[in-house]
Amino acid sequence: MFESVETYAGDPILSLNDDFQKDPRPNKINLSIGIYFDDAGRIPVLESVRRAEHAVASRDTPKPYLPMEGAANMRRAVQRLLFGAEHPAVTSGRIATIQSIGSSGGLKVGADFIARWLPGSAVWVSDPTWDNHRSMFEGAGLNVNTYPYYDPATGGVRFDAMLDTVRELPPRSVVLLHACCHNPTGVDLTREQWDRLIPLIAERDLLPYLDLAYQGFGDGIEEDAYAVRALAGARRPDGKPVAFFVANSFSKSMSLYGERCGALSVACADAAEADRVLGQLKFAVRRIYSSPPIHGGQIVAVILDEPELRARWEDELGGMRERIRAMRQALHRVLSAQLPGRDLDYFLTQRGMFSYTGLGAAQVDRLREEHGLYMVRSGRICVAGLNTSNVEAAANALAAVMR
Ligand code: LMR
Repeated sequence: MFESVETYAGDPILSLNDDFQKDPRPNKINLSIGIYFDDAGRIPVLESVRRAEHAVASRDTPKPYLPMEGAANMRRAVQRLLFGAEHPAVTSGRIATIQSIGSSGGLKVGADFIARWLPGSAVWVSDPTWDNHRSMFEGAGLNVNTYPYYDPATGGVRFDAMLDTVRELPPRSVVLLHACCHNPTGVDLTREQWDRLIPLIAERDLLPYLDLAYQGFGDGIEEDAYAVRALAGARRPDGKPVAFFVANSFSKSMSLYGERCGALSVACADAAEADRVLGQLKFAVRRIYSSPPIHGGQIVAVILDEPELRARWEDELGGMRERIRAMRQALHRVLSAQLPGRDLDYFLTQRGMFSYTGLGAAQVDRLREEHGLYMVRSGRICVAGLNTSNVEAAANALAAVMR
């Protein structure tokens, strides 16, 4: 029956993380997967999450199926977090939001929606992008292309080349954009660049699809929502709001990885359109997994809705952000001492969990084999895997292959 089934080559990120777990070397260092580890090398359980979990458990309520679109309180809380509570896009009801299984679930539901309702639209992702973006959209039957993004020569964005490509895209092309903390490069668009890109998107009638998996890890919760809010305020030449998707995640920002908490929001022209779009998102959900799980979404809703827990969460997220910054500085300090004259400032200027080191696959393999340091073969490291005990060893290992 299954003779022709081929061996799975493995996932460039998840399978590497599995390999790390199996590696018996005691001094191994995991800079592969995008997970925030604390200074003791553990995935933290946030105090805000612990308290919210307690509040949810003490409700002692049954566990019915959630509606296809998820829990209403969670969906409302997500809209307020992304767009701002009083944003007219929210208050006018023109945003269709579903609770999703991580942001990956949201990306997939959105991809299926696009394949069904915008047939012929191709997807354009940044070069490079998160490894799974292409697979996901191709898996939904969509054509995936790239637009220029990262410039290895400057460590910045090839913004003019990016604009040149975007300017030539056919109307209704889907442009996948990282709202903050670009994965894998850590190189974000500046506000000025968003302000130049968005009018072009509006004018060319393109469909932006924001991936917001690291809100709060760049400059702050509100600051990292800049692209969402700028798009929500943008108008097409005919005066209608710009339509766009945003898939967001609480995996990293609330350290809720395995709870698979995320959402997909679609900004529509008006409330009636949002109602129809929501209906079709529900249909897409029904055909994939029927409805999302209850537990994680309720933790998210309680934290976002309860002012004390919300403040606590913001503090904890700020602490994670600061620790990553401190690790960037420590890594930069040791590496600069080891590699004098080398420009390593990109470790300081890149945002969020990731740094793009420019290392090639052969150097990455050496790091894993000779030094027990795991990183993605594209040259991405997860800075959040560094801590005061391993940063020096990691920097020494990196320096050894960078010489
Ligand atoms: C990553 O990029 O490492 C994370 O987003 C985890 C994943 O699912 O790939």
